[in-house]
Amino acid sequence: MSNQKYTVTAALPYANGPLHLGHIAGVYLPADIFVRYLRMKNEDVVFVCGSDEHGAAITLRAKKEGVTPQEIVDRYHSINKKAFRDFDIDFDIYHRTSSEIHHQTASDYFKKLYEDGQFIQKTSEQYFDEEHQQFLADRYITGECPKCENPNAYGDQCEKCGSDLSPLDLINPKSTISGNKPVLKETSHWFLPMERHEEWLTSWIQEGKIHGKQLHNPKEWKNQVTGQVMSWLTAGLRPRAMTRDLDWGVKVPLEGADGKVLYVWLDAPIGYISATKKWAEDNDKNWEEYWKVNPESGEAETKLIHFIGKDNIVFHSIIFPILLKQHGEYVLPDNVPANEFLNLEGDKLSTSRNWAVWLHEYIEEYPDKIDELRYVLTSIMPESKDSEFTWKDYQDRINNELVAIFGNFVNRVVVLTNKYYEGVVPTAGELSEDDKAVLEEVKSISERIGKSVEQYRFREAMGEAMNIARAGNKYLADAEPWKL
Ligand code: MF3
Ligand code: ZN
Repeated sequence: MSNQKYTVTAALPYANGPLHLGHIAGVYLPADIFVRYLRMKNEDVVFVCGSDEHGAAITLRAKKEGVTPQEIVDRYHSINKKAFRDFDIDFDIYHRTSSEIHHQTASDYFKKLYEDGQFIQKTSEQYFDEEHQQFLADRYITGECPKCENPNAYGDQCEKCGSDLSPLDLINPKSTISGNKPVLKETSHWFLPMERHEEWLTSWIQEGKIHGKQLHNPKEWKNQVTGQVMSWLTAGLRPRAMTRDLDWGVKVPLEGADGKVLYVWLDAPIGYISATKKWAEDNDKNWEEYWKVNPESGEAETKLIHFIGKDNIVFHSIIFPILLKQHGEYVLPDNVPANEFLNLEGDKLSTSRNWAVWLHEYIEEYPDKIDELRYVLTSIMPESKDSEFTWKDYQDRINNELVAIFGNFVNRVVVLTNKYYEGVVPTAGELSEDDKAVLEEVKSISERIGKSVEQYRFREAMGEAMNIARAGNKYLADAEPWKL
């Protein structure tokens, strides 16, 4: 028996707001389809997700609403968990990073890397908000992007040109909480010296090999993912702080680190591991088989696959792989099938501008139209470029494809079976040449569906699935069984 396993993760959504159709089409629906396919083939797969409950996304939202971060994450964790369930996204576990088991796992993970000398401690001047007595990292600070002049770039990234930034790069920096001009103040942090890892990362990304050992087939990776990683590597990696001066998050487990927590992008991907641990505990499984190489053979027995949106590529294809490799024992991702973005009626989806179709609202309004939306979102999945959702297109696809082709086929089969065979599928008689031909066709289409899913081409897979209905409709029209 093969020991092959699959560890499939879907990006942990921030519990700072509801999910919209862009999240679903870009990450959760492709992951769900992939996992359903593996389960149909009886593969050994664990599918994990959960809420990302730390970071500035949460604390800034809490501040804005005048409530505690705990209230924010409790609210959105339950809204999002329910929306996924109602939408038939079938995780094995929907966990949370505020849980005890996660804090313990992330803390131990950091400590092990620290003890192995994987971080460097550095004291430097960082921006500080005097009114709020708080250091300003990431989304706590905005300013002009030095590369594209976008006036609203964040301290970690410019959303306009996609550059990765540090607060000190910003022109005319401003505190997000007070709007004040920040001052510089000394603080000490633990940095991941990413530049130490450029060499093996390059060979891993380009050839799928580390120190000559083949780990995955780089041809199976999407061009846009490999391309983005290579552009980071060519530009040269820089040390990145793995801790923050905040009181919301996983406490840094070191002496003299009071008031410091782990960087959210260190703790969140470890959330995949802690979710798997919790699932294993509850289901009598061994979590290590889904994350670590076999200690006897030294070989990976699981394929780790991260479904994400394109804004998460660097974290899943550079930073987390460094953390996994440097810890030792862990497998590296076999693939990171990142998708592009979905636009809505010609405009970028945006939580802050409230321009979105919210999943939980759709479900409330159309509780019996779940599969319709799954169908539409699959047919417009932004697999290799941004795509567009419009209600007119939603209506057309449902009426002209789902109802007219698939619905029609199912309906004819059911009606004919009821009319002539009292609702029971009869045993086949002698097969004509046409019968054999259509059965062959269905078989070869099924094989093509499998191939497409295995290559993360879900639009193509669904197009093929519709071809089965088309073949069925044609067969019925040609054979005219009602005449026999
Ligand atoms: N919360 C992040 C986002 O929405 C994704 C976190 S993925 C994880 O962009 F790997 F860090 F968990
Ligand atoms: Zn920019």
